[in-house]
Amino acid sequence: MDEPAVLVQDLCVVRGSRTVLPGLTVAVPRGQVVGLLGPSGGGKSTLLRAIVGVQIIESGTVTVLGEPAGSAGLRSRVGYVTQSPSVFADLTVTQNLRYFASLVGASSASIAEAITAVDLTSHADTRVGELSGGQHSRASLAAALVGSPELLVLDEPTVGLDPVLRRDLWELFHRLADAGTTLLVSSHVMDEATRCDRLLLLREGVILADDTPDGLLRRTGAADAEQAFLTLIEAEPAA
Ligand SMILES: Nc1ncnc2c1ncn2[C@@H]1O[C@H](COP(=O)(O)OP(=O)(O)OP(=O)(O)O)[C@@H](O)[C@H]1O
Ligand SMILES: [Mg+2]
Repeated sequence: MDEPAVLVQDLCVVRGSRTVLPGLTVAVPRGQVVGLLGPSGGGKSTLLRAIVGVQIIESGTVTVLGEPAGSAGLRSRVGYVTQSPSVFADLTVTQNLRYFASLVGASSASIAEAITAVDLTSHADTRVGELSGGQHSRASLAAALVGSPELLVLDEPTVGLDPVLRRDLWELFHRLADAGTTLLVSSHVMDEATRCDRLLLLREGVILADDTPDGLLRRTGAADAEQAFLTLIEAEPAA
């Protein structure tokens, strides 16, 4: 199990006229909750897209669970929640999950499990279009959970959630990791950094830090993750 869940080597991605990732190398270890943090526009979503195989890349390699990113064999092994809604507004939560379960060949038991995991049991038969913002994003998360993927790639899953729900979701992430799932979670919220086993700080397509929360604080002498990141960002000359 020493092989990382994700291995990105010399990844170069150009979007429009911008080189978003100029040659990025990073590994995501298995069975951990890894946070991908960094300023808006830094390339977080682009990196996650490359890992799930929906991003056109210029050069480099992305290996996921031992296979090239985007391979057909990874379809049921990788769950992905995009930054924008990915469930159908005109279907209920359960209907959505039935659809996503059919895509990955997941059992109907896993549908109920996923709904319970995100605490939407009382809204299982509500149309997604009638859910609150936070409920909507939890429905998207549930859609990625069906079939128990080995790797979960979550692009800002906690946006718009209240502190209690955020805490519950992070607890869920760690339960999943304890059971062997790898989670790669992007976030803007720096206090979420301390909830991760490992942190990647991405700024302007460059990894400024790849460390444990404790290691990061030690290395920067900062009191909290936010201060540590500011220290690193200020130490680095702008690209
Ligand atoms: N569809 C697109 N076409 C062209 N350029 C794009 C496209 N999407 C994103 N970009 C550019 O790629 C860069 C990185 O964007 P990306 O969405 O990866 O950043 P991010 O770190 O996820 O930001 P945020 O925290 O705001 O979600 C930005 O400069 C953005 O303008
Ligand atoms: Mg993004």
